[in-house]
Amino acid sequence: MFNKKTIKDVDVAGLKVLVRVDFNVPLADGAVADDTRIRAALPTIRYLIDHNARVILCSHLGRPKGPEDTQYSLRPACRALSRLIGRNVVFVDGPLATDAREAAERMVDGELIMLENLRFNPGEKANDLDFARELASLAELYVNDAFGTAHRAHASTAGVPEHLPAVSGLLLAREVEMLTEILTAPEKPFVAILGGAKVSEKIGVITRLVETCDALLIGGGMAFTFVAAKGYPTGDSIVEPEWIDAARHMLDAAREAGCDLILPIDFVVAAEVAEDATTFIVGREEIPDDMKGLDIGPATAELFKTEIERARTVYWNGPMGVFELAPFEAGTRTVAESVAQNTRAISVIGGGDSAAALKKFGLEGRVTFVSTGGGASMRLLEGASLPGLDALDDKVV
Ligand code: 3PG
Repeated sequence: MFNKKTIKDVDVAGLKVLVRVDFNVPLADGAVADDTRIRAALPTIRYLIDHNARVILCSHLGRPKGPEDTQYSLRPACRALSRLIGRNVVFVDGPLATDAREAAERMVDGELIMLENLRFNPGEKANDLDFARELASLAELYVNDAFGTAHRAHASTAGVPEHLPAVSGLLLAREVEMLTEILTAPEKPFVAILGGAKVSEKIGVITRLVETCDALLIGGGMAFTFVAAKGYPTGDSIVEPEWIDAARHMLDAAREAGCDLILPIDFVVAAEVAEDATTFIVGREEIPDDMKGLDIGPATAELFKTEIERARTVYWNGPMGVFELAPFEAGTRTVAESVAQNTRAISVIGGGDSAAALKKFGLEGRVTFVSTGGGASMRLLEGASLPGLDALDDKVV
């Protein structure tokens, strides 16, 4: 259960509301290249303006060194939001103490303004007390809807809530609910599929998942550290030698917990990562010295498909191979299609790469929930606390 107050627990009418969103979106040629995160924040923004709040939006974008890094301006995101929401959003790129304060004072009920990239001020990442106080002083209520940034203890996520009543937006609440539900009360069988390049980044999640899921399917570059842990040759594939022991422990932990940790039984290999590479299919014990594994093989894809078909809860994070290139996309495609086709299961997708894969294969909207948080969803699934969530007011029951 979500135990923080949300915007639905307070009367927002007439209030100046500072809303922390995560508009850290990819840009190309001065425009937003993927507006998923902006769309995801719309329910909260719409709710607030429909309930006559005065909305002051703030976010970070990228990792700028300072305001001179103008390619990190949030102006394109502001334009994209205006289009999506069908109304003018005033963009404030001047100082907080003067321009932002004046704009906030001039607002009428139901109006929206958006501040420039918070990380243009070093006080944001440093969680500087004065910067947090100044931001807070613009508003009478704070709303955090930036799930993707909830694992950061920055001024706009951890500092501001110390100075204002602080509640959750609808996206943050739904993200936390979906991700905690699959760990605490998943309908069984619960099948998790993990991929991506590195075991090191997912070890905390694997540790948690082996305790709760019935089957854990491992693909992607991280599979080769497990293959090495089993003592098989990995050729020229990506391996993290310092994590081989941890992978071995995970295999033991899964066995003890009764979780079926399933490694690929075959791979698509090639000498190079290229669109026109010559590929071969080999068993997992026979990767040639001069070849890299770049996708799970067809027998593995079938095996994973069968596991996913029987699931009632599915969590998928990370591609099975270099799906951006046609010769190595088949494994990820099969996983994406199997997840989408299992309409009896609750399916939760984490991580930008899996979301991008769904998009590539035209399967967006065919799963229950796609998380907007990469690092934040990993931390939550590991059982770590999220500073941006902890800082919010508790729901009184
Ligand atoms: C993300 O994209 O993961 C969040 O917006 C956080 O960004 P950061 O890793 O730069 O803090």
